Amino acid sequence: MDNRPIGVFDSGLGGLTVLKKMMELFPGESLVYFGDNGRAPYGTKSKETVTKFTFQDVRFLLNQDIKMMVIACNTASACSYEAVTQAFDFPIVEVVRPGALAAVKETRNKKVGVIGTVATVGSGVYEKAIHKLDSTIQIYQRACPLFVPLAEEGWWENDIAERVAQEYLIPLKEEGIDTLVLGCTHYPILEKTISKVMGDEVKLVNSAFEVAKLVNEITESNCMKRDENVKPVYRYYTSDSVEKFESLGSAFLGEKIYSVEKVDIERY
Ligand code: DGL
Repeated sequence: MDNRPIGVFDSGLGGLTVLKKMMELFPGESLVYFGDNGRAPYGTKSKETVTKFTFQDVRFLLNQDIKMMVIACNTASACSYEAVTQAFDFPIVEVVRPGALAAVKETRNKKVGVIGTVATVGSGVYEKAIHKLDSTIQIYQRACPLFVPLAEEGWWENDIAERVAQEYLIPLKEEGIDTLVLGCTHYPILEKTISKVMGDEVKLVNSAFEVAKLVNEITESNCMKRDENVKPVYRYYTSDSVEKFESLGSAFLGEKIYSVEKVDIERY
């Protein structure tokens, strides 16, 4: 038994879509979330910069007396997961491989689309991860850099979001994909708009559920579950405006977030 919390981070609010699935699957666990809103987006930055930021995020969470960590950011997972696991001897879960697994399970016609940030798509990690599971799958990728600012702005279902989605996604639809991987943890928040453009015949998948399942398996098999009689605690930190995190973060999570604390992440 281990009553310490699980640490989760993202460049901003997107990782809350993963946190939400974790809360649903194992409501008894305590969670600590860090959103690096002050330096988001990560997806337009170089691998070196993303890796520097990721190491600081990891060091901050390690200071919170956590028992394991989830990199709830595809960009940080794509650019820096290997370096992080080499540097820290600590249980850390990333989001790319679970997302790839979800796509492979879902596709019938073996034509899979992947959307993500410029850094994630450019890294080719999804292609590698999907082909490791099934080398016969055809993959069509597209970077959608405007989706993150739209999500962080709360513009999830308006005309502008739909127009941007059409511009990015119609070429993928025309390839005849039957599955689309939302390879950025911000994108599930735009799911309705994305689905409107892609149509019902294209299944949207994201890694949140597979990640939550994996975390659950790891805590169970290593006797790291929390004592169910002890009430879980949720703590939130951001490197930018606390008020903005509270209001928009609550919308991302679908429940009220209270008492967010500000962190000077450059200190870590
Ligand atoms: N939510 C993040 C991801 O999954 C990053 C978005 C960004 O900061 O560009 O890639």
